[in-house]
Amino acid sequence: MIDILPIRIQRTTASRLAEVDLDHIEFGKVFSDHMFAVEYRDGEWQEPQIVPYGDMAVSPANSALHYGQAIFEGMKAYQQADGGVALFRPLDNWARLNASAERMCMPAIPEELFMQGLKELIRLDAKWVPAKEGSSLYIRPFMFATDGFIGVRPSDTYRFMIFTCPVNAYYNKPLRVRFEQKYVRSAEGGAGFAKAAGNYGGAMMPSKLAQDEGYHQLLWTDASEHQYVEESGTMNAIFVIDGRVVTPALSTSILDGITRRSVLQLARDWGMPVEERKVSSLEIMDALTKGKLHEAFGVGTAATIAPIATIGFEGHDYDLPTVGPDAFSKRVSAALEAIRSGEATDSHSWMVKV
Ligand code: COI
Repeated sequence: MIDILPIRIQRTTASRLAEVDLDHIEFGKVFSDHMFAVEYRDGEWQEPQIVPYGDMAVSPANSALHYGQAIFEGMKAYQQADGGVALFRPLDNWARLNASAERMCMPAIPEELFMQGLKELIRLDAKWVPAKEGSSLYIRPFMFATDGFIGVRPSDTYRFMIFTCPVNAYYNKPLRVRFEQKYVRSAEGGAGFAKAAGNYGGAMMPSKLAQDEGYHQLLWTDASEHQYVEESGTMNAIFVIDGRVVTPALSTSILDGITRRSVLQLARDWGMPVEERKVSSLEIMDALTKGKLHEAFGVGTAATIAPIATIGFEGHDYDLPTVGPDAFSKRVSAALEAIRSGEATDSHSWMVKV
């Protein structure tokens, strides 16, 4: 245990909760009352604070704005059947945030600072955690450089913050995706495994082109051969081929998704064969046309499980079979929901009460 300074708390005097209809919220547009913030300077994390959610000032020369030294996490808190609130695998997010920090030359965040800040913030805004099935409190921890300096070098100062938003489903219908074989999200040796802000900015233009063609998202392929599946939009991609759960193996260009990990764990618990390996576009299309691709879906914190209905490949669209209630994606989605709400046994100790 390291010593963390006590959190200085300034409560809002004007909660916005009464103005919000928690059952009808557009993803990412409604923010809870408070936010957590702590500055890093002189080689140390300073006094942590919780303050009312609001805008903040940064130098126009802020190096995160110019050179992208900025990272984030996505995680969720859930209302429990017993009335409490619990976080899903928060230490996995903490560890991944620090892996991203290391890749982006930023300081590590001590576990106590992360967990105490997070729990205190969620306790304070516990009434913002929606209760409706499929809804949750989305939590956005992030860190960015704060030096006002336009030379290119790692910043000496940083701010780590957490804010939260009550959310319902991210996608409300099965996805149309297409293989992207021109642009790339990341290359081996790049920062694709990190949750670095620039990974998302660089993906926007190719995604927009696909959206203009009527797709929701891309199936990204590898940078050297444009053959092997990497991710699906901002999610990991999982396929069910001939009864096997198949997903691209992790690499320096693929995000180590916590939902991905959880889905693969449940598949293994249920005795299903799980293959983490290279998966080519040709393998997927061959399986699809032969009726062996039973399911394809994206997995991520925001969307949880997002079924794919149609895959575009070389100018043609191919529909996947409609999945029934016994499909793996449906069962795993329901199992995760039951663990998160506290209705099912949490045999892997994924939930952490706040
Ligand atoms: C998440 O699933 O948490 C993500 O990071 C996706 C997104 C909303 C950027």
